[in-house]
Amino acid sequence: MKQSFYKNASVAIIFAVLAAANAVAQVNMEEGKKLFAQTAVPACAVCHTLKHAGATGEIGPVLDELKPDATRVEKAIRNGIGQMPPYQSLSDAQIKLLANYVAAATQAEK
Ligand code: HEC
Repeated sequence: MKQSFYKNASVAIIFAVLAAANAVAQVNMEEGKKLFAQTAVPACAVCHTLKHAGATGEIGPVLDELKPDATRVEKAIRNGIGQMPPYQSLSDAQIKLLANYVAAATQAEK
């Protein structure tokens, strides 16, 4: 009896840990999409094509083809690059969410 209690308890703990890890790894795609298409000023969608966000901008590179990782996106947002302005109006959390979103939306099939 006692042994099966410990066995069940440890199975429950493993599931709890997996669920927590999954929640952390999951990117907030809805919020990212909103930041990309609306909240950022100027909106990323004005200049970039990104299928997931329904964006068809043609000034910057097509992000679905570039498939940048989150670090590369974050750097572009913080510092600007070429014609792309740096975004001082976005909070740290917004920049991180947006960077993870773009990476996840473009590298999903990797
Ligand atoms: C005014 C147009 C414009 C807007 C708005 C804009 N970008 Fe860009 N973006 C560009 C251009 C142009 C480049 C290419 C710059 C170069 O390589 O010279 C670029 C490059 C990038 C790159 C590639 C960086 C690299 O390392 O090559 C990423 C990622 C990116 N943009 C993401 C975003 C995101 C996310 C937003 C919204 C927060 C955004 N862009 C808003 C024009 C824009």
